[in-house]
Amino acid sequence: MIPNKKMEEMLNKQMNAEFYNSHLYMAMAAWFENQNLPGFASWMEVQAEEERKHALKFYNHLKERRGNIKVSQVPQPPANYKNALDVFQSALDHEIAVSKEINKMMEAALAEKDYAAVQLLNWFVSEQVEEEAQTDAVVQQLKMIGESRGSLMYIDRHLAKRKE
Ligand SMILES: [Fe+2]
Ligand SMILES: [Fe+2]
Repeated sequence: MIPNKKMEEMLNKQMNAEFYNSHLYMAMAAWFENQNLPGFASWMEVQAEEERKHALKFYNHLKERRGNIKVSQVPQPPANYKNALDVFQSALDHEIAVSKEINKMMEAALAEKDYAAVQLLNWFVSEQVEEEAQTDAVVQQLKMIGESRGSLMYIDRHLAKRKE
């Protein structure tokens, strides 16, 4: 069982934040499709799926502990970006902000002695390290190539290979 309303609200809030993350990455995928960069778009689609799985982790956690599940409205994600680097830099900044939220939740779960939530959040702490790293890797590549269209196409073909 979820120990109190505070934990229940936090878990619901993060579940909905993860649904938003999925939506955000789909909007980024759409932006890349519009730019005729299908590899980047496909990478973003895979990421959107990942984020949906994150939301379901919170959903199932609430379900198993008989918490009250509240799926809320998903806010409109940004649709306009300057270039590929701008998209990936925004994604990286967003992931860094998500990591901070996960850490805040971890502090609260520890304070409330909700060790089941701590266990769940441990997974998210590691996942955030991975997500920041994989997004930063693309940011670094995009910074390296500057304005080169040829190199952008090369990265696009490479990112198309991402499965999960
Ligand atoms: Fe996530
Ligand atoms: Fe993420």
